[in-house]
Amino acid sequence: MTGEISRSPEESEKIGKYIADKLKAGDVVGFTGELGTGKTFFIRTICNTLGVKDLVTSPTFTLMHIYSGREKILHLDCFRIKSPREAEMLGLDEYFNSRYICLIEWADKIISLLPESAIHIALRHVPDKPAWRAITIRGL
Ligand SMILES: Nc1ncnc2c1ncn2[C@@H]1O[C@H](COP(=O)(O)OP(=O)(O)O)[C@@H](O)[C@H]1O
Ligand SMILES: [Mg+2]
Repeated sequence: MTGEISRSPEESEKIGKYIADKLKAGDVVGFTGELGTGKTFFIRTICNTLGVKDLVTSPTFTLMHIYSGREKILHLDCFRIKSPREAEMLGLDEYFNSRYICLIEWADKIISLLPESAIHIALRHVPDKPAWRAITIRGL
């Protein structure tokens, strides 16, 4: 487990690239953190590093976006998912057991569905430091 402090979006981009370079087909990455902590920001950096040319935005209403870069990527936003049961009905576990790299916002909502091998990235605001983020990475 590693803990990092990012002091700016540029620093977060560097950390995002570092994460992206370690990812391989089939990895599942769960992001947790309040609104505005940078879940989408990190996923955008990771996708771009992996060669995705599409605009990466949060799939808040559509639930999931599929991108194709050097790997196939599933970008999931669980904000509106009410229970792991609902996620199961969407067939998400099939993606979690595939060659897709799965990048999941609000992963705590479906934590029981994530594989044991999942990578966890927790993002936190830092009091009085609007551009700082505390980042905890587990399982990378
Ligand atoms: N150090 C930082 N790391 C990441 N994002 C930052 C940082 N400082 C400011 N930001 C800003 O915080 C916002 C994070 O938004 P977003 O990624 O949509 O959050 P979430 O998906 O967690 O709701 C972006 O506008 C980004 O520019
Ligand atoms: Mg988001």
